[in-house]
Amino acid sequence: MVSKRSTSKKKAVRGPAGLNSLGLDARKCMTLVEGLNGLLASYQVHYQNLRGCHWNITGPAFFELHVRFEELYTKAQNVIDELAERILTLEGRPLHTFSAYLKASNIKEQRDLTGPYETVRSVMEGMSKLIALQRGVLTLADGAGDEATATLIGDNVTVMEKDLWMLRAYSAK
Ligand SMILES: [Fe+2]
Repeated sequence: MVSKRSTSKKKAVRGPAGLNSLGLDARKCMTLVEGLNGLLASYQVHYQNLRGCHWNITGPAFFELHVRFEELYTKAQNVIDELAERILTLEGRPLHTFSAYLKASNIKEQRDLTGPYETVRSVMEGMSKLIALQRGVLTLADGAGDEATATLIGDNVTVMEKDLWMLRAYSAK
């Protein structure tokens, strides 16, 4: 049986007013979480677009692009998980439904792309949008003094910019 005393409401352990459990400005972190959720949504659509390219690619470049798209969606899948878990670390909730992703994504769904040129171009466009979105998130992370999010995003931009260069080189005429 639980005594009355032990059921009395305990005060939540909190830092100074306005700060979250990480010691960061709670309001700035919620704005950052919104930015991260927009990035997460766009990444999910980009990921599914990559799966479509991986499945539907046809022609003489099939073997190399089929594999390349798989490498890229595997990378994207890892980043997606990192983003969602960073949102939770910041005391937010990651978007996790297709309907929410489609609403919040800056990237549109692609369908029925089969040729090497159109698939690579579509993936490159997605990456360019993700890089721009990540720069926006970097600004929010800097504003919140959140170096961990800034490092996560900054490192990812470096990798994505290199992947974008390789696709640009591949598709040069
Ligand atoms: Fe596959």
